Amino acid sequence: MTHFLDIHKTGKAELRGIIDAALRMKQARGNRTKGAADDELPLAGRMVALIFEKPSTRTRVSFDVGVRQMGGQTMVLSGADMQLGHGETIADTARVLSRYVDLIMIRTFDESVLEEMAQYASVPVINGLTDRSHPCQIMADVMTYEEHRGPIKGRKVVWCGDGNNVCTSFLHAAAQFGFDFTFTGPVQLDPEMEFVGLARNAGVSVTIERDPVRAVEGADLVLADTWVSMHDAQSARERRHNMLRPYQVNEALMTHAKPDALFMHCLPAHRGEEVTSEVMDGPQSVIFDEAENRLHAQKAIMRYCLGV
Ligand code: CP
Ligand code: NVA
Repeated sequence: MTHFLDIHKTGKAELRGIIDAALRMKQARGNRTKGAADDELPLAGRMVALIFEKPSTRTRVSFDVGVRQMGGQTMVLSGADMQLGHGETIADTARVLSRYVDLIMIRTFDESVLEEMAQYASVPVINGLTDRSHPCQIMADVMTYEEHRGPIKGRKVVWCGDGNNVCTSFLHAAAQFGFDFTFTGPVQLDPEMEFVGLARNAGVSVTIERDPVRAVEGADLVLADTWVSMHDAQSARERRHNMLRPYQVNEALMTHAKPDALFMHCLPAHRGEEVTSEVMDGPQSVIFDEAENRLHAQKAIMRYCLGV
């Protein structure tokens, strides 16, 4: 069973194959995201379940559109409306769904839900975000960087803010794609040391730098994400904002990165908080290319999982 659960759990050659396939499929459509289905319909006759236990705009729409472009059909399910949200076990849900659908994408809270789903499903399972990681996003981000600037290998990538789920998947990707990674943020929100170690063991440099100006010096790519993630308690909002305010990505901070550095954000963004509108809408920002590439990257991930 070929699941797509995390970037460090998929081989380097396979990850590169996914990026190449995504670029090929994007080109084959003449770079158009909308309009007719693809010429090739590798998902014809296939049904994909998209399960959401948290809100989503990009993941939901890009998976749904991607499946349809490849000739398949989708079923978008909210966790709360399923028996899953009312006490049925994940293992039973996985076995039942496997009798109806060919592929399961799930966005959930605890990573153990994804793992149990993958363990008991007899169809591939894709991680559409957990509290701990967001691998589909980072595949789109690597693709986006390389479209604009060439190979990401050896580049300096700087994460500003909370060492959250998206940051974790970047650490996984640093290990697999061979780029250097700097985290700048408050000590309370450091990324998980297990994954810092994973990247370092893979031979890439991982730096923790409390001073955001020093951190972004010489950066090829600067990243930000929301200061309060979907799994964070709203009661912690003010405390998190106070801790994270020095790490806002603004024009002044961007002047310390390389002149041709890119800015990325997985979105949704909170303008004026983790990033200013000047940076979001400025010449270095590629945020909407990132969002578009979710579509292309995930189409390639689904083909990889299904072997089609
Ligand atoms: N970036 C991302 O996953 O966005 P959604 O939460 O809208 O799916
Ligand atoms: N860190 C954010 C990412 C949203 C796509 C969250 O988990 O809410």
